[in-house]
Amino acid sequence: MADDRPIGVFDSGVGGLSVLREIRARLPRESLLYLADSGHVPYGEKTPDFIRARCRAIADFFLERNAKALVVACNTATAAGVAELRECHPELPIVGMEPAVKPAARATRSGVVGVLATTGTLKSARFAALLDRFAVDVRVVTQPCPGLVELVEAGDLDGPRTRALLLSFVEPLLTEGCDTLILGCTHYPFLRPLLERLVPPTVTLVDTGAAVARRLEDVLVAAGLQGEGVATTGFWSSADPQQLQRVLPVLWGAPAPVRRFAG
Ligand code: DGL
Repeated sequence: MADDRPIGVFDSGVGGLSVLREIRARLPRESLLYLADSGHVPYGEKTPDFIRARCRAIADFFLERNAKALVVACNTATAAGVAELRECHPELPIVGMEPAVKPAARATRSGVVGVLATTGTLKSARFAALLDRFAVDVRVVTQPCPGLVELVEAGDLDGPRTRALLLSFVEPLLTEGCDTLILGCTHYPFLRPLLERLVPPTVTLVDTGAAVARRLEDVLVAAGLQGEGVATTGFWSSADPQQLQRVLPVLWGAPAPVRRFAG
């Protein structure tokens, strides 16, 4: 029997829309609720305790709306909070995400992989464990990118400030010999067109959005939770809803109303 309850998807801000697009493309009959916690962005510079508190509040919000599953569309929130969320809600399927070290280690020919991610993700025990497991026979060079998320939040995807900041983060990785760059934060796929202009064509860019959508599908199938309804997508923001509404046509591909999340 079909389960047409919605799926809750969240990020510190607009970054998770890069994952939401993949989910919508893969699961056209699922209703989706998206929450941008833009009132508390960037998560990358916050403490794990703070991020865990945000994860709890947002999960409660989705459960009040009868969500059947949750997607943490944020590497930083996954690193800090997904384990606790799973402990608190053992009955709820929860899909998290982490930088794509495994596919990048497979893709590199130079043997040097670069990771662009938030300070919080790169400092986390979860990321260290990921490297222990998958960065076998490759060298991984990490690059925190403070300031980049705020520019994406503002919708500045290729202005001079974004270009200069991105270049300052990417240049050291290229100097180190990286031929594969992991976009380890869900805000960064929106910078892919700019990034492609800044790096040589031989450099491979790897992100995780499509893999998360596939994983979500597998989880829904395994739990017998697939929807077959007329899909809807609802948007909430913990900052001024107008701000998200302004960037939705570009980042989501269509305008949509945005409601305020006061939690
Ligand atoms: N988009 C988030 C991630 O995937 C977090 C960005 C931030 O708020 O610092 O890591």
